Amino acid sequence: MALYPIIKPFIFRLDAERAHRMTISALKMRTGTGFTPEPPYTPMLEMRVAGLDFPNPVGLAAGFDKDAEVLEQMLSLGFGFVEAGTLTPRPQSGNPKPRLFRLAEDRAVINRMGFNNQGQQAALGRLEKRYKTRGLVGVNVGANKDSTDRIADYVQGVRFMSGVADYLTVNISSPNTPGLRALQDQGALEELLAAVREVGSDKPIFLKVAPDLDQSDPERIVRAAIDHRIAAIIVSNTTVSRPPLKSPQRGEAGGLSGKPLKPLAFDALRRFRRASCGEIPLIGVGGIENADDAWERIRAGASLVQLYSAMVYEGPGIARRIARGLTARLKREGMRSIAEAVGTE
Ligand SMILES: Cc1cc2nc3c(=O)[nH]c(=O)nc-3n(C[C@H](O)[C@H](O)[C@H](O)COP(=O)(O)O)c2cc1C
Repeated sequence: MALYPIIKPFIFRLDAERAHRMTISALKMRTGTGFTPEPPYTPMLEMRVAGLDFPNPVGLAAGFDKDAEVLEQMLSLGFGFVEAGTLTPRPQSGNPKPRLFRLAEDRAVINRMGFNNQGQQAALGRLEKRYKTRGLVGVNVGANKDSTDRIADYVQGVRFMSGVADYLTVNISSPNTPGLRALQDQGALEELLAAVREVGSDKPIFLKVAPDLDQSDPERIVRAAIDHRIAAIIVSNTTVSRPPLKSPQRGEAGGLSGKPLKPLAFDALRRFRRASCGEIPLIGVGGIENADDAWERIRAGASLVQLYSAMVYEGPGIARRIARGLTARLKREGMRSIAEAVGTE
């Protein structure tokens, strides 16, 4: 029975960050495996990307479990993979509160959290104690706000977290750390990617980009990613643009996610697909709310998808529902695997 529609009105009465904190605390009480029966394994949903076997292509995007507190629980809820972080080398408190806003009328979220996290050391300890619930865990790394050498922070993240991550994400696309997105610029990007590769990690490295890009950016970023053996590009983070919105909180500063991000993130994905011609796997994120959205994104070239905001509105059962919907789609189309559907738009 779906519990979420019953408790959602109570959750929505709380301040958004408080509600999030309470959700994490509630999930933490259910430790270990067996929190909820693992969803039935569906071989046709299995997807091999960057040498990793994802049990299904639906992932939990970075930002929900920044400190790697409830990874097992989220995998048990049916996500094929969960991305912890963004984690910075040193703990930091992030921006002043309030900094997280639900835009219910728009099925959207605005956040200006600013990489609040307990730091990589704390997460490392938790990740070392992982049970082995089916599914993969990525670790998304970033730079401290007051860092004097941001590239060194990414190098440190990749080096420090490699042993406990199935993959690492270099996140240069959060809008809430001033100047961070400048790392997407040509010279800086080349320098950054060369530096993180030099660490010599045996884990695949993914690059997460913003949806707010100039015309020529996808081509340039794809080239740099391929040159530096980046294993996949995650498209995309939140947007600093403001499509028309109805909710009273629409004027809040920060990154916008959820339904209004969908056209932008989708367009960005298509541009990256055109620029890469399938040479590098893409992960589609932004406004994915149901199996149709996930299916469209896969057909447009995404090998995997991720979501966050829709879980606020639809509850934690969303991963299972999307996975089931994708299985039904494959059967209807007479396809045997997700890989067959990628880029068939
Ligand atoms: C509250 C919140 C915090 C987030 N924090 C991070 C983060 O720390 N690192 C990151 O790479 N993305 C972060 N994101 C972005 C998401 O991972 C995702 O790229 C974006 O929200 C678009 O997906 P969605 O529309 O399904 O939410 C955050 C998003 C939200 C809503």
